Amino acid sequence: MTAGMSLTVSDLVLSYGGAPVVNRLDLTVRPGEIMVLTGPSGCGKSTVLRALAGLLRQDSGQILADGDPVTTTSRDRAMVFQDSALLPWRTVRSNVELALKLAGLPRAGRRAEALRWIADVGLTGFEDYLPKSLSGGMRQRVQLARGLAGNPRAVMMDEPFGALDAQTRTSMQRLLIETWRTHPTTIVFVTHDVDEALRLGDRVAVLGRAGQPLRALVDVPTPRSPDSERTALRAEILAALDNTELIS
Ligand SMILES: Nc1ncnc2c1ncn2[C@@H]1O[C@H](COP(=O)(O)OP(=O)(O)OP(=O)(O)O)[C@@H](O)[C@H]1O
Ligand SMILES: [Mg+2]
Repeated sequence: MTAGMSLTVSDLVLSYGGAPVVNRLDLTVRPGEIMVLTGPSGCGKSTVLRALAGLLRQDSGQILADGDPVTTTSRDRAMVFQDSALLPWRTVRSNVELALKLAGLPRAGRRAEALRWIADVGLTGFEDYLPKSLSGGMRQRVQLARGLAGNPRAVMMDEPFGALDAQTRTSMQRLLIETWRTHPTTIVFVTHDVDEALRLGDRVAVLGRAGQPLRALVDVPTPRSPDSERTALRAEILAALDNTELIS
């Protein structure tokens, strides 16, 4: 069994009662890859992510996780949100321990495993802090630890670095890649930022406006290498995004 799961979206329709937000989407995420979803605000990125996590009912079509229909949430498929979804009354360690508990880890091993994750995201020394006493970047580190702890086979990340300043954001991107290399899993990562998309993604899917088809699906031959190696792709994605604006 590979570390990450495959996610296959076929002919998927999602709505909130009105017109479809996602209309007949087809998309395959390969085991262990980082698939980035980008597109204009309101185009349905978070909606697709919630459906992949099993948090949203599908109108029609199908999502398969390693061949099995996604009908509900699963400890195999974790979610990391943009805004800190940490429990404010729990310490850093206790937040990570809770994720491990939900992942089914026996009580005896939880504390040591939580401390390992806290070390992996560079927060040793902050175990007993409450979320409110941490910086935004540190809170996102805890979120990362919480999302990846328990080794889910897929993690959906909804603009996890969107609220961070440029420098913190770059270091978080590096941390994510390092952590993903040592704990391989499938990642579906939503971002507005084309440079972030090209830095992280093995592939980048550009969604059209709500209800419209995919604008582009781009292979990144040199992910995780210097930005200068992806100038042409950057232009291609920006063009796809521009087209999206024009036809709206
Ligand atoms: N809970 C909800 N109830 C009703 N409509 C919703 C709900 N959540 C999202 N929508 C609508 O669905 C569409 C897609 O929203 P979604 O949040 O998926 O977009 P997004 O691409 O993630 O946007 P952003 O980049 O701003 O985060 C929008 O028109 C939004 O208003
Ligand atoms: Mg969103």
